[in-house]
Amino acid sequence: MITRRELVQGAAVGGAAMAMGSAKSYAQIMGANDRLNFAVIGLNSRAYAHLSALKANKANARISHVVDVESNILAKFAAATEKEMGEAPKTDRDFRNVLQMKDVDAITIATPDHWHAPMAIAGVQAGKHVYVEKPCSHNPAEGALLVAVQKKYGKLVQMGSQQRSSPHTIEMKKKIDDGLIGDPYFGKTWYSNTRKSIGHGKPAPVPATLDWDLWQGPAPRQAYTDNVQPYNWHWFRKWGTGETLNNGTHEVDVARYLMGVEFPERVTSSGGRYAYKDDWQFYDTLVTSFTYPEANGKPGRMISWDCRCCNGERYYDRDRGAAITGTTGSVVIDRGGYEVYDLKGKKVDSYSVGKAAASDDLMGRDSMTDAHFRNFIAGIQKGEKLNQPISSGNVAVTMLQLSNIAYFVNRELKLDQTDGKIQGDPEAMKQWGREYEKGWAPHL
Ligand SMILES: NC(=O)c1ccc[n+]([C@@H]2O[C@H](COP(=O)([O-])OP(=O)(O)OC[C@H]3O[C@@H](n4cnc5c(N)ncnc54)[C@H](O)[C@@H]3O)[C@@H](O)[C@H]2O)c1
Repeated sequence: MITRRELVQGAAVGGAAMAMGSAKSYAQIMGANDRLNFAVIGLNSRAYAHLSALKANKANARISHVVDVESNILAKFAAATEKEMGEAPKTDRDFRNVLQMKDVDAITIATPDHWHAPMAIAGVQAGKHVYVEKPCSHNPAEGALLVAVQKKYGKLVQMGSQQRSSPHTIEMKKKIDDGLIGDPYFGKTWYSNTRKSIGHGKPAPVPATLDWDLWQGPAPRQAYTDNVQPYNWHWFRKWGTGETLNNGTHEVDVARYLMGVEFPERVTSSGGRYAYKDDWQFYDTLVTSFTYPEANGKPGRMISWDCRCCNGERYYDRDRGAAITGTTGSVVIDRGGYEVYDLKGKKVDSYSVGKAAASDDLMGRDSMTDAHFRNFIAGIQKGEKLNQPISSGNVAVTMLQLSNIAYFVNRELKLDQTDGKIQGDPEAMKQWGREYEKGWAPHL
C-alpha cells in the first residue's frame, strides 16, 4: 500500500505509477485528496503572487498554513487565502511550528533575504519541499550550504526566478543553442527604477503586532528603527542584498542561461550611492563585469550588469532585460518577449507574450510565476525536472553576491570557476559568509 506521503516524495511516484500499470490507475492515486499542502511564509507583498500561482494550480495544491511575524499582515493574507482558495488556512507567527506539521508537504518563502537560506535549510531538514524566493541566500556561504543540504536530504528546492519557466525564454535557449546568433559572447543585463530616498531611521518602539526577534532571526540583533520593515530592509546589509540580488538575479540568470555559462573567472564592480545621502548601505548605480576565458575552442565571454535604482532611463525601450550579442546576430529578451537582430542591427524576428507574463504587478497574477509553481508541483508529484533547481539558482545568486563583494572591496576578484570562491584575496573572502546571531547559524 502506497501512502499519500510516499506519493508526494516524488521519487516514489514513478515507481508507484508503473507498479499500478496504467495512466488511469495513476490518476486514481493522485485524486482530489492528493493535493499538496503548502505553507506560505512571509506574507506582505510577493506572497500574493504565490497565492495567485497556487490558485492557478489549485487542482494540485492547497494552502494549509500561512505564516508571518506580523499579526496584521498575517490576518490580511489569511483572509485573502480563504477568499481565493475557498478554504481558511491555519495561521502561525512562528514557521518552526509549521515545519513540525506532518501534513505540510511544501513551504514557500517570501521573507526578507536574510531568512531565505536558513529557513529553506530548516524546511528541507524537516522533510519539506521548498520554493524559495530569489535571492536564495544572503551570502555565498549559506547558498552553498543550502545546495549541500538539498543534496543530502533529497527534497526539491526551486528558486523563485520565474523567467526560467517562461516558454519564450526556454524556446530562445533552444534557438541560441541551435546557432541562432552564432557564438553568444556578450550578455548585457540591466534594471532601472526610480526609488526614493529611505531617509534616516529613528529608534522607535517595536510595534505590538511584530515579533522583532523572530523577524531578525539569523541576523545579529539591533534596536528597531522606523525605516526598515517592510521592504526597505533590502538596502541594509544585515538583512538585504541591494538591487543587485533583488533584480540583477533575474536578468544575469537569464543571460548566463542563454549563454550556457556558470561561474566566471573574474568580476569587477564600480558604482556609488549618488542620488541621495541616507541610511541606504548599497550603491544606487553599479556596473559589474563578469568575464570568462576562452575554453574548448570557443571565444571568451562576458556578462555585464548595469543597475540604476534612482533613474528610470531605459535600454532597448525596456526598464529591465538581457541583450545577448553573438558572432552572427543578437537577441534582446525580457519577461514580455524578444527581438532578434542580424549583425547589422536589422530586426529579423520578434515575439511578444502580452501583458499576462510581465510580472510588473508583483502582487498580482503573472503567467511565468504560475508556470514556475506548476513546474515545482509537477516536480514533487511526478518527478518533472525543475526549471530552476537550487544548484542552478545558486550559481546566479553567488555571481551577484560576488558583484557586491567586488564593489565593497573595490577591486577585481579572481574566482575558482568550479565553485565561485575568491582566489588569493583573504580580505574579500571574509565577505563570503556572514556573522550570525548566536545560536541561529544554519548547519548541514
Ligand atoms: N520573484 C520575484 O519576481 C520577486 C518579486 C518581489 C519580491 N521578491 C522577493 O520576495 C521576498 C519578499 O519580498 P517582499 O517585497 O514581499 O518583502 P516585504 O518586506 O514586503 O515582506 C516580507 C514579509 O516577511 C515577513 N517576515 C519577516 N521575517 C519573517 C519570519 N521569520 N517568518 C515569517 N515571516 C517573516 C515580514 O513581516 C513581511 O511581512 C524578497 O526576498 C524579494 O527579493 C521576488
